[in-house]
Amino acid sequence: MPANLRDLDSFGEVAAEDDAILLNYFLSTDTVQRVEEGGAFLVIGRKGAGKTAIVRYFTEGNERDRSRALNLRNYPWNVHASRIDRGADAVDAYVASWRYLIAVQIAAWALENSQATFNDNQRPLREFLEANYGGPRPKLSDIIRPAKLRVRGFNVAPQVLGNALGSVDLERGEGDHNLGMELEALTQALLQSAVAVMRECRLGAFYLHFDELDAGLEEVNETRKQMLIGLILAIRGMRREMVALEAEAKPVLYLRTDLWDDLTFSDKNKITQGQSVLIEWTPDQLKDLVNVRLRSKLGDDVAWGNIIDEDLMRGSQPKWNHIVARTLRRPRDVIHFLNVALRVAKRRDDAELIFSNRDIVESRTDYSAYLKRELDDEILPHWRRWEEALQTLSAIATETFSAEGFGEEYPRKKSAGNPCDAGEALRLLHRFSVIGYLKRSGYGGSSWAFMYEEPDRGWDAHATQFKVHPGLKEHAGLREERR
Ligand SMILES: Nc1ncnc2c1ncn2[C@@H]1O[C@H](COP(=O)(O)OP(=O)(O)O)[C@@H](O)[C@H]1O
Ligand SMILES: [Mg+2]
Repeated sequence: MPANLRDLDSFGEVAAEDDAILLNYFLSTDTVQRVEEGGAFLVIGRKGAGKTAIVRYFTEGNERDRSRALNLRNYPWNVHASRIDRGADAVDAYVASWRYLIAVQIAAWALENSQATFNDNQRPLREFLEANYGGPRPKLSDIIRPAKLRVRGFNVAPQVLGNALGSVDLERGEGDHNLGMELEALTQALLQSAVAVMRECRLGAFYLHFDELDAGLEEVNETRKQMLIGLILAIRGMRREMVALEAEAKPVLYLRTDLWDDLTFSDKNKITQGQSVLIEWTPDQLKDLVNVRLRSKLGDDVAWGNIIDEDLMRGSQPKWNHIVARTLRRPRDVIHFLNVALRVAKRRDDAELIFSNRDIVESRTDYSAYLKRELDDEILPHWRRWEEALQTLSAIATETFSAEGFGEEYPRKKSAGNPCDAGEALRLLHRFSVIGYLKRSGYGGSSWAFMYEEPDRGWDAHATQFKVHPGLKEHAGLREERR
């Protein structure tokens, strides 16, 4: 039975934070399970892969009492940058301040969730939060903002080098190396009380979700990298300590793949292998995601097959494959493509409306412009002048091209301020899935290696033939050549 697309307003918003009814059609995946049960504390995914969707599932779904979201969209990064621990190595320079921030969050959660019971350890937490933040639930952006933290109310006063700590100055001069040590003493005091409350009042597990660390990011500089590494190390350390204390406080960090790829520190591989999850979608999972939306919006018996006509596209390609081939296998791309196609289809006046091949084809130009903007968000912080490489592809004008052809055209487009030579440009274009390279397989066959399809394959500096991602074809004005 065909369904009627006239009854569908849209396939949903393209950003999880804008979708009021996301939880009506949230698709629970392996990633969710790895965070809930598998001990993963780092969720990595490209822009639009579904990081915020998972945070919303935790913080607004059945688990909402156990979860808090920390949205770093308007985080005072510059203030935090000044809270540098000069007594520590560069990699550790922000660990103490992030640990303190996490401890305050755990304390606030423990206090709020233990209201029904009395416990000796609530008072110090309440007094500390009151004295420094004016109440039991400090705003994220205020936690590291005070110039001075007042230390009071603790059953055992935190000590540094044998002296009781009366206060901690967060603003320090160049020559002062004590911030880390003092903050750590305070963090320990907060954790001690918070963990006692959590255990004695049997509060169970608490998840703290750090999201949107990339919001408004214009350039990935060294300070920002140090701060991200600091947060990762702080979370890892905190998790270990909580296990030792038999308390379940679990910070989780959601990070864009390109930012993670840019960080270097000694335990990175260990974390990648044991404690992180990469959000990946197969074409079938993406179809499930669409089907769940169709069921929720059009009725239990409606699925993809009910909203399309039977005609195959050019080259006997099913409509679904044609769409997925133009995405980076991210939900955001699929949802955007289908929303455009829906608008296009609705221009026809059929009373009973389903997608035709023409609807799909006519959506490609708008979709292609969208994909370029998405790539801008990801690539610009790493490579301000990537547009010049894209102009090179437009000048070559065919979907496939050679290293040689690129090497000839690129210098004509490249400006003096662009640090990437042709080889480096190709490598970066591949890293962000703008292009794939021709790889030969054992039996004389060959295929295109794109990063979004084969993230582990890496770059081949000797590759000679390349293909532009099909989703960019319209934006870049490319034509197919006959083989
Ligand atoms: N598990 C999921 N179930 C349903 N929709 C999802 C899921 N993951 C992502 N989406 C949808 O995909 C789009 C992009 O997800 P989002 O969480 O905003 O990406 P990110 O935060 O990684 O940039 C949003 O429209 C979101 O609703
Ligand atoms: Mg997000």
